[in-house]
Amino acid sequence: MYPAIKHLHMTLAMISILGFMLRAVWLFSQSSLLHKKPVKILPHIIDTLLLASGITLMVITTQYPAILNWVTLKLVFIVCYIVFGILTFKAQAKNKQILFFLLAIGTVFAVLHLAFGKPVY
Ligand code: HEM
Repeated sequence: MYPAIKHLHMTLAMISILGFMLRAVWLFSQSSLLHKKPVKILPHIIDTLLLASGITLMVITTQYPAILNWVTLKLVFIVCYIVFGILTFKAQAKNKQILFFLLAIGTVFAVLHLAFGKPVY
């Protein structure tokens, strides 16, 4: 059960990140694909499943956010990633879209670093 959920979680994380990058490409190239219904709905479904699988892993592995550990930091960076991701598509000016996109990619790398490294502070 645990390996299956972990693989599902990692697959969902990759789909979420690649999907975000693809939508950013469509944003920057002013593609009409960005406004298609599945493109608007699918990220919510994938991210909800990603969150649910993450919480399941948290319970299975009993690695809960404490005062400061990798899970806490990871959740902080995930919130930043979500906010920067939303701002990427909300911003009107191209330089702001690029700035928020780069911040989102930066925070998602921090999430991946924490997920793989599980550093102990
Ligand atoms: C952008 C969102 C996310 C990304 C990119 C991501 C990425 C990953 C990756 C790559 C791993 C596997 C690391 C390894 O090899 O051990 C992992 C594990 C884990 N994730 Fe996430 N994750 C995300 C969201 C979440 C959320 C929202 C939670 C909890 C609410 C969560 C909780 C966990 C836990 C507890 C593990 C550890 C499982 C273990 O120790 O085997 N993740 N995550």
